Amino acid sequence: MKISARLKVVKPSATFAMAAEATALRQQGRDVVDLSVGEPDFDTPEHVKDAARAALAQGLTKYTPIGGTDALKDAIVTKLRRDNGLKYARTEVMASCGGKHSLYTAFQALFDEGDEVVLPAPYWVSYPDMLVLAGAVPRVVETSAAAGFRMSPAALEAAIGPRTVGLILNSPSNPTGAAYSAEQLRALGEVALRHHLVVITDDIYERLTAEPVAHVGTLVPGLRPNLVIVNSVSKSYAMTGWRIGYTAAPPEVIRAMTVLQGQTTTNPTSVAQAAAAVALAGPQASVAEMAREFTARLELMIQGLGRIPCLVTPVPQGAFYVFPDVSAFFGRRGPDGPIACATDLSMYLLRHAGVATVPGESFGGPAHVRISYAAARDVLEDGIARLGRALGALS
Ligand SMILES: Cc1ncc(COP(=O)(O)O)c(C=O)c1O
Repeated sequence: MKISARLKVVKPSATFAMAAEATALRQQGRDVVDLSVGEPDFDTPEHVKDAARAALAQGLTKYTPIGGTDALKDAIVTKLRRDNGLKYARTEVMASCGGKHSLYTAFQALFDEGDEVVLPAPYWVSYPDMLVLAGAVPRVVETSAAAGFRMSPAALEAAIGPRTVGLILNSPSNPTGAAYSAEQLRALGEVALRHHLVVITDDIYERLTAEPVAHVGTLVPGLRPNLVIVNSVSKSYAMTGWRIGYTAAPPEVIRAMTVLQGQTTTNPTSVAQAAAAVALAGPQASVAEMAREFTARLELMIQGLGRIPCLVTPVPQGAFYVFPDVSAFFGRRGPDGPIACATDLSMYLLRHAGVATVPGESFGGPAHVRISYAAARDVLEDGIARLGRALGALS
């Protein structure tokens, strides 16, 4: 059957592709250390699960308003005030079926054919495809490991042309874990303000940091009419499967997104909304605990990977990924032939060391692989030992 031209330019998500390959090997009985995953290995906090059980017991199993229940919207408002110092009203927030859905719906609502959107690289795999689906053109700005994978205000300024309407910020970032300092964010926000850019800030990893991160909306209050905040309960509350993301934006943006959502998914799952409301507005101790554990694991990763010759691993500020430079291994040989790129290396590591990583090409970082540390410490130690042996065996 014919497939639409629109979809022919969209690539499948590389992170899910590598996870699927790892699962297939496991099903064949291979022992695989999966460091490709983009989700916390922790369980959803018990008080959040209790809220879902209570919602079911109360029969909250029907359609809700398209953008979410008032209880969830109020919880989003509470969260934005508590964590970000930002005051939003119910009419300025909505929930969707995961942060990915929030971003997709926002891009569809905001961009027209040919609109350019600045996207610092390395970037999360889905941004370029979602932008293309909205008719927009990603204006990729390369950053370097030496600059901490952070885009400078001058680089942003230089990337802005007559068709540039937007900027995507993701701090801390997937795949690099890099987070901007308050000063850097303020400077970027001021450039965006001067050029009337819509700033879409994807805050999904904001609470998984050793140090609290500043919010561009607080640092540059003038951005508010052009600020679109996207977040999700997936990572902060270990709720990836519940599929609740949310957006805070000017009311006209929320209204437009609600119209689109009303013609596509309708409301996110009612029971998941009840759980997310408690996650966002209830006790927050589990978030800090998880962040502490990730910080300890990061140290383990940096020390362990640091002992592997020729692997250069920048130290991230948050999330649960490291993004080492593996280009020193390009040109070496493995049992299946020469290693020419990050994809070859990731495939070699999976097949011959039983370690799943994600090659950097699809993140716009072709000299790197992404290694997730959302796994128990003994699993990470095993993974690091395997990586060391496998990389050392390349000739
Ligand atoms: C940077 C970033 N944004 C958004 C998402 C979407 O997460 P979800 O749809 O589970 O909320 C992810 C998931 O990996 C991500 O890494």
